Amino acid sequence: TKYVGILTSGGDSPGLNAAIRGVGKAALNHYGMYIIGFRDGFRGLMENRTMRLDGGELSDILTRGGTILGTSRDKPHRMPVGGKVLDMTDVIVGNYRDNHLDALVCLGGGGTQKNALRLKEKGLNVITLPKTIDNDVAMTDITFGFDTALGIATEAIDRLHSTAHSHHRIIVVEIMGHRAGWLALGAGVAGGADVILIPEIPYDVESVAEAIRERSRGGKPFSIVAVAEGAISMQDFLARSAAEEKKGKSKGGKKSAGDAAQNTEMQYADHTLRLAKKLEQLTGLEARITILGHLQRGGIPSAADRLLATRLGTACADFISKGTYGVMVAARGDGIKAVKLEEVAGKVKTVPPDHPWVESARRVGTNMGD
Ligand code: F6P
Repeated sequence: TKYVGILTSGGDSPGLNAAIRGVGKAALNHYGMYIIGFRDGFRGLMENRTMRLDGGELSDILTRGGTILGTSRDKPHRMPVGGKVLDMTDVIVGNYRDNHLDALVCLGGGGTQKNALRLKEKGLNVITLPKTIDNDVAMTDITFGFDTALGIATEAIDRLHSTAHSHHRIIVVEIMGHRAGWLALGAGVAGGADVILIPEIPYDVESVAEAIRERSRGGKPFSIVAVAEGAISMQDFLARSAAEEKKGKSKGGKKSAGDAAQNTEMQYADHTLRLAKKLEQLTGLEARITILGHLQRGGIPSAADRLLATRLGTACADFISKGTYGVMVAARGDGIKAVKLEEVAGKVKTVPPDHPWVESARRVGTNMGD
């Protein structure tokens, strides 16, 4: 009998429970493995806080949002413990051994892939599943959580159209996505936003204002601006890139352009507010902001996310049964592939500026900020 541990790490994402159920049911019922959950991400593994998953725990969770295991953004090598930040990797390795685990399944986004790789390098049999509403994990076509968030953000844009239209306003709607523009771009296209701003295409506020004024002249004195939380003006982008370059050089390291877009939630909101004020000033229209925030991560997962999470989860149990470890279970084309963690960790899948979704947006007349 194989003993399998499972944990969820990073931000919650719709479909996590469907994935836990997929891994668990296949492992227990199909392969006769023993499965144990760890609470609150890597912290639960460090503190050996477990949750039974061999009773009825896997039933009735397919449609539930969040994660029954709980989650945290803790990293094994940088754990806040008693006011200090400590490398607790060895404690985690010890608990893995004490629980006689043959494999550890980590459900998470980009950060989780890096953490899992570190544990692999310590000799653990780790296997990961890609989840995040940001859809920014490398080497997989899609991550679960994205489709649900896309639906929520699109519905928000649909609803915001009423007020924008009736009050002749600009509504700037801030959409999550961290350093990637997938969610804002997808929802912007699906919801018919008039302007879409994503981190991958630094914007010129004058160009955005002109697009809005042009609509007004054409008899549409209202606009919806879908702004990815990581969106950045060309001016700020150049300034930050120069600063990062200097920092990178002085440290002897090289930073990617994407790193320049990293920010905190408050800074994102501040940027959105400043953008709205500037557009108000440049166009003469009244502007309002809406920050969708964690609404985008909550609630019932979409059918597509439940399906994807179940496919990835059950495939994960298949890989464990074959002893395929040190990999992420990825959706590639019509199938599912095991991708080495080394090929995934530390990479961010951003939107190529000439991606077909961007081209479609441009074709229907959406301003992309440039
Ligand atoms: O990675 C998912 C995500 O929702 C990002 O889109 C966002 O930047 C971040 O998490 C928010 O983090 P938190 O939930 O910790 O505030």
